[in-house]
Amino acid sequence: MNTPSFPADLVRDVSRRRTFAIVSHPDAGKTTLTEKLLLFGGAIQMAGTVKARKSSRHATSDWMEIEKQRGISVTSSVMQFDYGGHTINLLDTPGHEDFSEDTYRVLTAVDAAVMVIDAAKGVEAQTIKLLEVCRLRNTPIITFVNKMDREVREPFALLEEIESVLKIDCAPISWPLGMGKGFRGVFHLLQNRLLRFTPGEEKRGGETETVEGIDNPRLAELFPEEVKQLRADVELLSGASVPFDLDRFLAGTQTPVFFGSGINNFGVQEILQALVEWAPAPQPRAAGARLVDPREPGFSGFVFKIQANMDPRHRDRIAFFRVCSGRYKPGMKVQHPRVGRELKIANALTFMANERVASQDAVAGDIIGIHNHGQLQIGDTLTEFTTAGEALSFKGIPYFAPELFRYARPRDPFKAKPLQKGLQELGEEGAIQVLETATGNTLLGAVGPLQFEVVAARLQSEYKVDAVYDAADIHTALWLTFPDETTRRNFERDQAVRLAKDVDGNPVFLAPNRPVLQVTQERWPKVGFHAVREHGEQMAQGRASR
Ligand code: G4P
Repeated sequence: MNTPSFPADLVRDVSRRRTFAIVSHPDAGKTTLTEKLLLFGGAIQMAGTVKARKSSRHATSDWMEIEKQRGISVTSSVMQFDYGGHTINLLDTPGHEDFSEDTYRVLTAVDAAVMVIDAAKGVEAQTIKLLEVCRLRNTPIITFVNKMDREVREPFALLEEIESVLKIDCAPISWPLGMGKGFRGVFHLLQNRLLRFTPGEEKRGGETETVEGIDNPRLAELFPEEVKQLRADVELLSGASVPFDLDRFLAGTQTPVFFGSGINNFGVQEILQALVEWAPAPQPRAAGARLVDPREPGFSGFVFKIQANMDPRHRDRIAFFRVCSGRYKPGMKVQHPRVGRELKIANALTFMANERVASQDAVAGDIIGIHNHGQLQIGDTLTEFTTAGEALSFKGIPYFAPELFRYARPRDPFKAKPLQKGLQELGEEGAIQVLETATGNTLLGAVGPLQFEVVAARLQSEYKVDAVYDAADIHTALWLTFPDETTRRNFERDQAVRLAKDVDGNPVFLAPNRPVLQVTQERWPKVGFHAVREHGEQMAQGRASR
């Protein structure tokens, strides 16, 4: 592409960025893979570092009291490391009890995702949800089928399941030779060679032994029992499976599939290689009026996550900010279009694998942490593009329909005001969704159960409010759009008891169960029911994400 107008240093640095997240169901092996990737990247020296953090939490990330009590990560973090001449940003997606809207939002800040599938279990619930979110932005997906050292499902059946359940075409890149105790390695279909698996050896980081060519007689010597099956599989694959197509991968419609064993460090390097070779560098992003090219000199980006109490001594909040163009320099001044003010970013942070340091330099794809005293919200754009009077606003930071609900009320009725203030602020921060029902109750909505605990703990420590959380018999809450005023009025009259408003005043439908939702949708075919809405978007105007 002809890029004479972009500064050469930015063109170079942006092309070296790879920003991705790992999506998986709990226990599929995300933590293990993260750790091996960091080992390869030289970001950690010792296996067990990430694992230890998962169970006991490392001091630097032990930001919230609740995190310590539960021994889990409430909040997701960012890890930057170098590999193969590239700067890789790995964004963690909280997955166990700490599954929350942050998990979803992180996926809006990445350019690619690695999907880990437990080969014994196949496609699981949380993976399905996360892939739906990836699909909102057509994020390219690399698939790692993990735990081949166990007795697992048949590989063809796994591919079929991925294709049918996740609606994405699979292009196998490596193919397993055996499984469980009989796992002998993978045949790399593009490189036409076998990577041999020797249990235990890869753990020590030894070179993987290879055998070139599927017809190599050495294969029959090494694996007299298995070679026939492997050759038959490879022949079948060359005829039946779709070849890897970079454009389709980049469009999010095809996923390259690798088989391996994270715990044995087997197949991990191929994932890194695929990220570096195939995953996209930061791409132009829609920002309202126009697309912003990551190589443009003007600095811009957006907040995708706010983390509270990173340092309890200062009660500070950190806004996680994805740079979309230009270059961050300490002390730079930027525009904050939502509030119409200038903001100085004094000492932003860069997140390394196990520490956070003062950021000196960041370009598109990088994540910086900005100290936030309430001036930043999720979805906020900061930009240097001011001369042309542009009001840029990056799109695509969604709210997701909550799935878990509680009514909140103060234990002490005189504390109604501080409760409301606390919930308003926590709602704006994105910790939880706060809905006001037509009957005047405050309803909290979450996608992960821990969100309620975090909010309860923070209301107590930051707002000194002890609240009572009552069960709410609600199945889901969907945003509404109406074709015209009359329909809106009629619907609101008819469904008054099931209506609520979100923090921005958008109308929401509270469905007590699936059949009621279905019947209502059938009765009101022109009314839009939406599971996703973008931050700052006014649903009443009829715009919806989906
Ligand atoms: P998660 O972050 O996705 O939740 O998964 P995590 O990496 O913690 O892995 C979940 C379990 O699966 C762990 O076992 C881990 O050791 C195991 N595991 C990960 N990759 C592989 C693999 O390639 N082969 C086999 N056989 N197991 C794998 P655990 O018993 O829960 O923990 P631990 O005691 O082993 O640490």
